[in-house]
Amino acid sequence: MEKKGRAAALNILFIAGAAALLFLLTHAPKETTAHLPKDEIHLKFYGIARKKEAERFCNECHGDGGSAPLSPSHPPPYRCLFCHKR
Ligand code: HEC
Ligand code: HEC
Repeated sequence: MEKKGRAAALNILFIAGAAALLFLLTHAPKETTAHLPKDEIHLKFYGIARKKEAERFCNECHGDGGSAPLSPSHPPPYRCLFCHKR
C-alpha cells in the first residue's frame, strides 16, 4: 500500500512537472533581438559555418570607429551570433 501511494505521488509530480514545462515552452516571450540581417552586407556570414569564425568580421564595421558602431545601450558584445541569430 505504502509503495503504491508513493508511485502515485511520483506520477502526479511528473505530470505536474511536464505540464509546467509545456506551459513555459508555449508561453515563452517572443524573441526580440534582431537576427543577423539577410542583406548584401551580412549574407556572406550565413555561409561561414563556425560562429566564431564569422564573428571575427563584425567589428570591422560594428566596432569602435567602424562604419556602423554599436549604440551605447548595446549589451556586452561578445559572441555576436549567440544573440543575433542567423
Ligand atoms: C561591411 C560592414 C559590416 C559588417 C562586416 C557587419 N555588419 Fe552588421 N550592419 C552593417 C550596417 C551598415 C548595418 C545597418 C544596415 C543594415 O541593416 O544592413 C548593419 C546592421 C546589423 C544588424 C541589424 C541591427 C538591427 O537593428 O536590425 C545586426 C544585428 C548586425 N548588423 C550584426 C552583424 C554581425 C553579427 C556581424 C558579423 C557576423 C556584422 N553585422 C557584420 C554593416 C556591417
Ligand atoms: C547578449 C546579447 C547580444 C550580443 C552578444 C550582441 N548583441 Fe547586438 N544587440 C543585442 C540587443 C538586445 C540589441 C538591441 C539593443 C538596443 O536596442 O540598444 C542589439 C543591437 C545590435 C545592433 C543594432 C544597433 C545597436 O547598437 O543597437 C547591432 C548592429 C548589433 N547589435 C550588432 C552586434 C554585434 C556586431 C555583436 C558582436 C560584436 C553583437 N551585436 C553582440 C544583443 C546582443
